[in-house]
This record gives sequence, structure tokens and C-alpha cells, in this order.
Amino acid sequence: MEAEKSVDLPVIVAIDGPAASGKSSVARRLAADLGFLHVNTGAMYRAFTWQVLQNGIDPRDTDAVSALLETTQFGLDVGGDTAVILINGVDPGGALQEAVVAANVSTIAANPDVRSRLVAEQRALGEARSVVMEGRDIGTVVFPATPHKFFIDARPEIRQARREAQGLVDSIHDRDRQDTSRKADPLRPAEGAEIIDTSDHDLEAVLAIVKERLAAQGLPF
Ligand code: DC
Repeated sequence: MEAEKSVDLPVIVAIDGPAASGKSSVARRLAADLGFLHVNTGAMYRAFTWQVLQNGIDPRDTDAVSALLETTQFGLDVGGDTAVILINGVDPGGALQEAVVAANVSTIAANPDVRSRLVAEQRALGEARSVVMEGRDIGTVVFPATPHKFFIDARPEIRQARREAQGLVDSIHDRDRQDTSRKADPLRPAEGAEIIDTSDHDLEAVLAIVKERLAAQGLPF
């Protein structure tokens, strides 16, 4: 009788949290250390927001936004450590961090059509390969079954200061309010997520906490 072949299923590490909580730095380093792909789902919402604005569409015009969504292709360049989001084959690059994109992304992210499309794209990615995926709803909606969930937080004034130190214009308070109060998949810690407040910790300290938990869950560190 043939020995049963073991199949290595992709591993999903879900990292959620509010804007400027430090989750991107954690996710990027963790992915590099594990040899997994880093996927920043906020960049997907930002890329589509950029596309909406490029087309002169009002982000609040849900019909026009949904129509544009139907003709938009999302692609990924996975050549590097971090997946680069392509919109109809184009990398919006630095435009993703522009103030006008930051000011409108929460409106686009509250649109249920946009969410269901992007969630489907994100699931397809995680089914294909092991990923560290960061966002707002990865542990609650995109991959609720993964045991590897973290919620990275920091005090609002610390998060606002971090954005300003990056030289970016971003109203953390407004985005927090919109991201936590929207009807579709609001930001909240997933059941079973380890909540880490990074206000008084540096990146290495946060990574140590995350790795300790993943090691206890059987991931190699
Ligand atoms: O992580 P970020 O600041 O780049 O995310 C930009 C916006 O996208 C954020 O204000 C809320 C939205 N977002 C979301 O609704 N769901 C995700 N999984 C990721 C981001």
C-alpha cells in the first residue's frame, strides 16, 4: 500500500489593527523571517481608491464605484518580499500614500461591493501560498479559521505622531471612527486574537511577542 503523502497547506498569519499601529512593520519583518509573502490589504483598498479618483468618480457614488469595480482587474507582482498591488496592470506606487487617497479610502472601504471583491481576491492569495496578511478584517472575515491571529494597537496620539513623523498627512481620528463604525466588517479584534499594544514597545519587542506565540502554535522559530 502506498504511504499517505502529507500535503503542506498554506499557513496564514493574520495581523489586524488600526492605522499607524505598527502592524505593517511587524507584518513585513515577520513575513521575511518566515519566508512567507507579505500582503498589505490596506494597499488594495488604497489602490482602488486611487483608481476611483483617477476616473473622476465621487467615492460616495456607490453605483459609479460598483460599475468601475466590475471593469477593474486586480493583479499582484509577487516578485519581491511584499506583494505589489497592480490595478489594471499599473502599480500606483507612491500615490497610495497621498493625502487625497488617505482621506477617501475609508469611504471606499465601507462599500460592501468593494469589500466582497477584495476579500475574494485576498482569500485566493492565501489559498495559493503561505502569507502574512495585514489589514482590518483578516482574522474576523477573510481567514477566520486561522489560529494565527494578532491585533496590533497603540494609543491614538502615538499613532497620529507616527504618521506625522513619516511626513504623511492622515487624519487617524477620522479613519478610526469610520473604520470601526461602518456596517460592513468593522474593525475589531478577532476572537482568539492576541492583542498587542505597541505604544511603549519597539518593533523588536513586538516581534518577540508574536514569534513566541507562533512558536507555541508550532510554527518554526
Ligand atoms: O492599513 P491602511 O491604513 O493602509 O488601510 C487603508 C484603509 O483601508 C483603512 O482606513 C481601512 C481600509 N482597510 C479595510 O477596510 N480592510 C482591510 N483589510 C484593510 C484596510
